Amino acid sequence: MYLTAPRIDETPVARPASRPDPAFRAEVRRGLAQPQKAIPARWFYDMRGSQLFEAITQVPEYYPTRTETALLQAHCPAVAERIGTEATVVEFGSGSSIKTRILLKTLPRATYVPIDICGEFLDEACTALRDLFPAMPIVPVEANFMEPVHLPLPRESADRPMLGFFPGSTIGNLTPDAAVDLLRSMRGTLGEGAYLLIGIDRVKAPERLVSAYDDAGGVTALFNLNLLQRINRELGGSIPVGEFRHVARWNPVASRIEMHLEARRAVSFEVDGQSFRMERGETIHTENCHKYRPGEMRVLLAAAGWHELEHWTDAQGDFSLILAKTDGARQEP
Ligand code: AVJ
Repeated sequence: MYLTAPRIDETPVARPASRPDPAFRAEVRRGLAQPQKAIPARWFYDMRGSQLFEAITQVPEYYPTRTETALLQAHCPAVAERIGTEATVVEFGSGSSIKTRILLKTLPRATYVPIDICGEFLDEACTALRDLFPAMPIVPVEANFMEPVHLPLPRESADRPMLGFFPGSTIGNLTPDAAVDLLRSMRGTLGEGAYLLIGIDRVKAPERLVSAYDDAGGVTALFNLNLLQRINRELGGSIPVGEFRHVARWNPVASRIEMHLEARRAVSFEVDGQSFRMERGETIHTENCHKYRPGEMRVLLAAAGWHELEHWTDAQGDFSLILAKTDGARQEP
């Protein structure tokens, strides 16, 4: 499947260089000026980056998507049984994916509230889901879910259970401190008494982790390098993309996979009218993917006011699917 992904030079221009996203511009400028150059991972996801991420989920080495999908298939019925089928499902991040469908299929009377910062992805996701679930109320919210979000919900939903949905181990992109902040802000968005269904990737043999982020087919490399293409396209950059290579390494101290773009030789380039130079071997840090042990996951959730009701994993113990509830209302429905 990933073999059919479009090549970098076939990518349509997402945005004219004359009107760059001001936040992208500011964060790239700031990130490239640091001693350890770094650009936040959320900028991977332009049109082509989103397509390449979809391709990553299909490569043999990338086990998380496959494993979590099977966990959802096996355990969503138990979630529905526990919270009832009338929940308001609030998904943090765009949810056009197969995972959302698995959950909603088991909650036929749900209201679905996808939150995403990108209106275009939201519209696409909603259109696809309305076809699949014509009777389901779908209330898209264009917002940054890193901050508490006001949900414009119909009055009936006030007495119905709230269920946050945060699959994919996206939480792993954040440092543990930031992850606790986000989990706390989700509690604020959802309210006391809410449930959270969250997928988190586990610590495992570094070789398996590294190959999941450095697949033999080179799809993750294309995904990482696309960030440089995007900078060149949208910020009028002159980065010599061919002089960079994709690096994925396990950082045992921080318990995370780090992705970097490493200069194969000394390079000079311009971005947004500013000149930069990198030495041979110098890197731009592009992503962190934190991995947790089951007990650490409980600590993380507890620090944000969530307690674990269920903790499911696969036969190999590769990935966790956790159903949690806010501490405020411990009584079961
Ligand atoms: C979408 C953040 C969950 O960390 O596994 C996959 C992103 N980056 N391969 C992950 C990713 C490279 C992915 N998340």
